[in-house]
Amino acid sequence: MEKLSKEEKKLYLMKKLIGCKKTKIAVFISGKGSNLKNLIKFSKLASYPFTINLIISNTSKAKGLKYSKQFNIKKKIINYDNKLKTDKKILEILKENKIKLICLAGFMKILSKNFIKNFNGKIINIHPSLLPKYKGLNTHYRAIKNGERFAGCSVHYVTSKLDSGKIILQKKIKVSKNDNHISLAKKVLKVEHLIYPDAIKKILN
Ligand code: GRF
Repeated sequence: MEKLSKEEKKLYLMKKLIGCKKTKIAVFISGKGSNLKNLIKFSKLASYPFTINLIISNTSKAKGLKYSKQFNIKKKIINYDNKLKTDKKILEILKENKIKLICLAGFMKILSKNFIKNFNGKIINIHPSLLPKYKGLNTHYRAIKNGERFAGCSVHYVTSKLDSGKIILQKKIKVSKNDNHISLAKKVLKVEHLIYPDAIKKILN
């Protein structure tokens, strides 16, 4: 601190103060982690009341794990073979790290009833469809096959029933005639990045 100028010290203290007030989040991933990266980006803004303090993955192959090193965020890779043991272990890690909100972002395991009941905080997920339509996997493929004119994404609370918890925020987009499931997935991912940070803000404010 001694080597910092007066202005730098002020900024440092302000950031510390803002950081303290922010809600600590754990993001659970299994894949690319573009939503994770986006949430990290938003967490740096003073107007978004959260910090990403922990990344959890069920596989060491998740590409998004690279953001742990890049942004200096703790990561844990959890083996899901024994559900009961796993639940206990994650709950402990979350408690140790004072995590108050879990954001699932492309996490390919289903959280157990026991885990959801025992976590002392909120759990939310982003799903690439306009729920309650197209729960589960291959949402874009099914939407295209059914000739849907609109698609989109939803942020919702996690319950023990797959993709069925209360919706926090949704964003609708138009499906164009030329879209296939790949182009639609790209379009939807873009709007996922818009609504996930705002959905968090909504439930924390
Ligand atoms: C997103 O489409 C999300 O809605 C779904 O899984 C995908 C994860 O993408 N649950 P990424 O790993 O965040 O890039």
